[in-house]
Amino acid sequence: ITPSDFVVVANRLPVDLERLPDGTTRWKRSPGGLVTALEPILRSNHGAWVGWAGVADVDAGVIVEDDLTLYSVPLSTEEIADYYEGFSNATLWPLYHDVIVRPEYRREWWNVYVEVNRRFAEEAAKAAAPNATVWIQDYQLQLVPKMLRMLRPDLTIGFFLHIPFPPVELFMQMPWRTEIVEGLLGADLIGFHLPGGAQNFLYLAGRLAGHQTSRGNIGVRSKLGVVQVGFRSVRVGAFPISIASGELDEQSRSKSIRDRAKAIRKELGNPDKILLGVDRLDYTKGIDVRLDALNELLVDGRVDPSRTVMVQLATPSRERVESYVHMRGEIERMVSRINGEYAEVGRPVVHYIHRPVPREELIAFFVAADVMLVTPLRDGMNLVAKEYVACRSDLGGSLVLSEFTGAAAELRQAFLCNPHDLEDVKDKMQAAIEQPRETGRKTMRALRRQVLTHDVDRWARAFLDALSHTGAAGPALI
Ligand code: G6P
Repeated sequence: ITPSDFVVVANRLPVDLERLPDGTTRWKRSPGGLVTALEPILRSNHGAWVGWAGVADVDAGVIVEDDLTLYSVPLSTEEIADYYEGFSNATLWPLYHDVIVRPEYRREWWNVYVEVNRRFAEEAAKAAAPNATVWIQDYQLQLVPKMLRMLRPDLTIGFFLHIPFPPVELFMQMPWRTEIVEGLLGADLIGFHLPGGAQNFLYLAGRLAGHQTSRGNIGVRSKLGVVQVGFRSVRVGAFPISIASGELDEQSRSKSIRDRAKAIRKELGNPDKILLGVDRLDYTKGIDVRLDALNELLVDGRVDPSRTVMVQLATPSRERVESYVHMRGEIERMVSRINGEYAEVGRPVVHYIHRPVPREELIAFFVAADVMLVTPLRDGMNLVAKEYVACRSDLGGSLVLSEFTGAAAELRQAFLCNPHDLEDVKDKMQAAIEQPRETGRKTMRALRRQVLTHDVDRWARAFLDALSHTGAAGPALI
């Protein structure tokens, strides 16, 4: 196997290993936005992707496709429990999302997080050619930059955080805060979605400046977005991620999607207004907030249950983590309660699906929905908001969007709401439902201009371009 000039390291591979009922297995491609964006760069540089196959006890292995090599990092059942469900999703996830639920700090989880990060770093070191560029993704792998630099000082290393980076007051809770900051500072460039996250990180690096680290004192020249670590400069910046908006726009215009969207409206009983929520079932997403708001609007008589339908598509996620089990129970109770009060036989007010929905079906729902509800309590970006906008070439539909998402910084014309202020959420939902057609078209046109000109390709190029201008960089990627 030839090592690659461009290596992506992420917790998940762009393929999942599926175990079939007959005991055999097969690879299923799961093309997220990241793969779509990076595929051309990966292929033209004989790229490699290092990640986990999504199930326990898959042997370490290398899959060579045409121009892309996949390195599967094995995780045991215990490692999934401690590194993935534990430290990543019951410690870091809630801590980085404003402590919406209380993070659990457990030494045994931390120890396994360190071990698993080391395994990813070792695999990346094998996959990378001399002077290659390695791009590490997200909160599950924050120690990899430093570990990889120790193994391979010749590499150019980038890191991107896909979730918010919390204010220093919250981050300081972390018992292993110095190790994590040092881990990240192994990169040449650290990217966040928003300037606020980058600022939080720079300020934190400043707080730790007096600490003696294994790499010498950390000094900060924060104005420039540069952290000085011994003789090395680490650049810090904001790079808001996006979607493959052009492709999605095109797909949503197809006849089959249009027909399906019409069929969905009919299946829902031809209501005047379809409200839609699309999320992983996660307590950060504020699914409970929008259900609460809908319930009160119904109680107040501000929404007519005979003419309004809400559809909530909730993809199952992290189902063995307790806070997720709890949130699911809450949401399902709220759905039943609203339907118990306001549904007629054969005509529920809230349709709730807790299964993954195929991509085409999802696009048809976006096309059908009159009001899109995106109400997270905190979200790094929220790509669903951008997907909805990309699907509305008809200029129909309106978007209710939480101020606490990264997307709100770009989609200023949406109905922005504070998800902690229920009256505000109700007002914005009602305004979106009642919005006159012409105003809606104007707003949607402005939103689409932003989303169509700022796609995921632009994001990847901006990051890689900045990375190629850092001190350590070898030849730029083509
Ligand atoms: C968020 C994270 C990703 C993660 C995704 C799905 O978007 O930033 O790193 O892959 O959620 O979560 P999962 O735990 O299923 O990978």
